[in-house]
Amino acid sequence: MGKSPGEVVSIRTGIYGGAFDPPHEGHLLVARTALVSGRLDRVIFLPCADTPNFGKVFAAAHDRVRMLELLTADEPRFSVSSLEAEAGRPVPTAESMAFFRREYPEDQLFFILGADKLEKLPRWTDARKLFSLCGFMALPRDGADMQKLTDGVRRAGADITFLPMREASVSSSRIQEALAAFRDPEHLPGPAAAYIAAEGLYHDHAMEERVQALMTEKRFRHTLGVRTQGVMLAQRHGLSLQKAALAALLHDSAKCLPFDEMKKLAHAGGITDENLLSSPEMLHGPAGAVLAKRDFGVTDPDVLNAIAYHTMGRACMSPLEMCIFVADATEPGRRDYPGLETIREKSLESLPAAVLLSLERTKEYVLSQNKPFNPLSEKTIVWLRASYNL
Ligand SMILES: [Fe+2]
Ligand SMILES: [Fe+2]
Repeated sequence: MGKSPGEVVSIRTGIYGGAFDPPHEGHLLVARTALVSGRLDRVIFLPCADTPNFGKVFAAAHDRVRMLELLTADEPRFSVSSLEAEAGRPVPTAESMAFFRREYPEDQLFFILGADKLEKLPRWTDARKLFSLCGFMALPRDGADMQKLTDGVRRAGADITFLPMREASVSSSRIQEALAAFRDPEHLPGPAAAYIAAEGLYHDHAMEERVQALMTEKRFRHTLGVRTQGVMLAQRHGLSLQKAALAALLHDSAKCLPFDEMKKLAHAGGITDENLLSSPEMLHGPAGAVLAKRDFGVTDPDVLNAIAYHTMGRACMSPLEMCIFVADATEPGRRDYPGLETIREKSLESLPAAVLLSLERTKEYVLSQNKPFNPLSEKTIVWLRASYNL
């Protein structure tokens, strides 16, 4: 039915509140369903504030806002409000909806919520006021008696409809569990996954502090830069973001240790190669891999190899090893050196070509100083040229 001339059609705005810790595909599906089936014109995501009582909120409010902004950037009908996130205290929904009522006086407002919240809805702070400010769109929950829930809420005075969708099987806590173990979770959209890996979210913070305690401030800054760059490259080349983040965090873990300590680690790890044992520069990677395994519980061989060979490479190096090698050479904080920009550009299209360029540049420099070029790196060069037709 078309609207008659002069008829004012109000905008239907959904406010989707929650922890979004982290935001995932299930949330986006709900918002899209609300647009289509709930005939909304727009959905505003409203991540809650951090509160000591909230329970399992692992990412700070500003990080959750940022992730939502990244995930909604391509959908003009989605936006993110930092109203509650910036409040620094729990904000009653009635207070938030009063804000949106003032902000959008002509709109029809709907608060989107899960069916699990319905039973307690009549007892929310200022529930009567809240019911006068907006309608509700509820997501069904498997096994819940929706009729009973609806009746209860309607009797209390709320205007409520249901979104016709199945309960999403995605759970934030399962995603959190995977991330805590440095695994790449399913149902976590790329931009959020990259943000989380680059920022080191959802991991035991103590681990990052222990890494920091092992090194100078400058080295730690470099480490975080390598993580940013490593995650970017991993995403670009379809590698595990979490493995890249872990390897980057630990790649220089032995770098600031005294040479004697590195040798002890090498001994504990069964490293006997005279060439590796000849200098801290050569040894800090392999010693770091021993440290990562012994003190940080890393068992993934690909991650350990990425740490071990991040300075010299090796024949048959894996894509993850190349990723960390290149990230180390090109992280944003690197002082400019001849060829840096070319290596950065190359790394976006080909990791092997970028590793080769970087090694060739090092070789040129070392030879110009009348120093011998490390044979392991020479082998890497030969292997890269042969294997990748470079
Ligand atoms: Fe290093
Ligand atoms: Fe490094």
